[in-house]
Amino acid sequence: MKNEKRLVTAALTYVNNIPHVGHIVGCHLPADIFARFSRSYGYDTTFVGGSDMHGTPSLMTAQELGVPVEVLTEELHKVHKKIYEKLNISYDIYSNTHTKIHEEVTKDFFMELYNNGYIREGEIEMFYCEHDKMFLPDRYVIGTCPHCGFSEASGDQCEKCDSLFSPSELLDARCKVCGEKATLKKSKHIFLILSKGVEDLKKWVESKKDVWRSHVYAEAKKWISEGLKDRCISRDITWGFNVPLKNYENKVFYVWFDAPIGYISLTKELSEQKYKDLWLDKSSKIYNFVGKDNIQFHAVFFPTMLLEHKKYNLAHNVVGLNFLNYEGQKFSKSKKIGVFCNALLSDHDEIDIDALRAYLTTIIPENKDTDYRWEDYKNNTNSELVGKFGNLFNRTLNMIKNYFGGTLNVDEKSLDNLNEFDLEIIDALHTLPKAIAESYERAELRDAYKLIMSYAVKANGYIEKSAPWNLMKEEKVEEAQKVLYLALNVCASLCIVASPIMPNKTKTLLMEQIGLALDPTLNDIYHLASEFNIKKGHKIKNVYPIFERVDNEKLEKFKNIMSEPFDIKEYFETNKK
Ligand code: MF3
Ligand code: ZN
Repeated sequence: MKNEKRLVTAALTYVNNIPHVGHIVGCHLPADIFARFSRSYGYDTTFVGGSDMHGTPSLMTAQELGVPVEVLTEELHKVHKKIYEKLNISYDIYSNTHTKIHEEVTKDFFMELYNNGYIREGEIEMFYCEHDKMFLPDRYVIGTCPHCGFSEASGDQCEKCDSLFSPSELLDARCKVCGEKATLKKSKHIFLILSKGVEDLKKWVESKKDVWRSHVYAEAKKWISEGLKDRCISRDITWGFNVPLKNYENKVFYVWFDAPIGYISLTKELSEQKYKDLWLDKSSKIYNFVGKDNIQFHAVFFPTMLLEHKKYNLAHNVVGLNFLNYEGQKFSKSKKIGVFCNALLSDHDEIDIDALRAYLTTIIPENKDTDYRWEDYKNNTNSELVGKFGNLFNRTLNMIKNYFGGTLNVDEKSLDNLNEFDLEIIDALHTLPKAIAESYERAELRDAYKLIMSYAVKANGYIEKSAPWNLMKEEKVEEAQKVLYLALNVCASLCIVASPIMPNKTKTLLMEQIGLALDPTLNDIYHLASEFNIKKGHKIKNVYPIFERVDNEKLEKFKNIMSEPFDIKEYFETNKK
């Protein structure tokens, strides 16, 4: 085991709906692959995630559906959890932010900031609905645009003429929930003073110049150079944790105040020891995986909170991702554009989780926005997974079965007469797993996948060039055995290096087909990927194709299943009964 203790986090997802594939590739999947790799490489790894329960959108959705917000969020939290489990996201804990422990940690965090002089009071003006007795966020106010007269303009912008205005300019403002008149009302709030921590923040961001991806670093620099204004961290709504100050009994913390503190609470919920090791002990390393729209919170605002609080560790790396589009368009639930995850809640034979994970890995938006395309899914399955990866296992195992009854009587020590091709593949076994590890380590997961496929291609090339079928014809049995022995070792090595991306298939291949008593998802086994794991007399177990080809008919079925948007209304109506 390595000494480094690692905490991997995936941004906590809102539960006013269910995730679509964009959320998966933009956060959960890359975090999972990285966490799986970290465990396999021997880092003492903890991977936390959870649902972000609070916030106005959840409250509004609950009101629209006529469901108590606690019920809505709790129910959707369970749905999220199930989906991530189905996708094999290996959270050590997947909890949520509406827990006792999180409330305690949040309030302690806040009081520390308050006592250190980082909180001030201030007043803001907002629309208020007398009927619903609540303050309305901009997007819950509609009225007439002061510029073009469009009657369905929202609080601070008009969709029709694209103009932006301040809410006080909106004419005939109404509450979007009940349609009654909305009036502007002043209210006292608390603000987090960001300016005091800015020098420390600058130093910290500078120290990340070569650690973070350049777009993350650039975004942090941009926010800092624009000057950090104090942030309002309270809200006049009824959903969230109460601000523990006199005269604030009716206000709750802004969701972006409590949510990132959730990483700390989740770790604590998992184990008190891990909380100490990962958040208080300076030697640990924290990796935040976050979607594009979350970068500012993780690279600027939350770190400032942490710096002002002083007790907790800051992230080592903020792995910021970009957006995923769908066949060239933006995901949109209302327009039914995209790939949704509700199908994962029931069993469908059409869904091969590892084939999906593999394709999704190729479109992780690491450095720029990417595109989900069904045709690419099909091609990746057919030409990469079946044609390269699966084919290598299939032909190697089949030849061992057919030529040698499944048993190889060679081992590393009895190898002699190595030719140039043998030396080349042995060299690949020694060097490629290391190169793949370096890509994983940099969270360049698409590269890791590409290298894995090129490793399989190399091994296939080795088999082609060595042509064991000819060797058998020429009765060079020992030589044929040597070739298959080397190829089988590469197969075992591939199972280990590909396990973070395709945990199920590689486990089946290694344990059920190759027949080694070695689980590739175990901790600290990555180093075995550069070794000869097959011993003399080894008998393989079963041989069958591990991936299935996708033809147009299957693709169409899969596409239909996955494109059906989640109908939240229907879900709660059927669940109420
Ligand atoms: N709920 C937010 C979103 O989905 C992300 C919160 S991340 C955390 O965009 F840092 F607050 F946890
Ligand atoms: Zn109203």
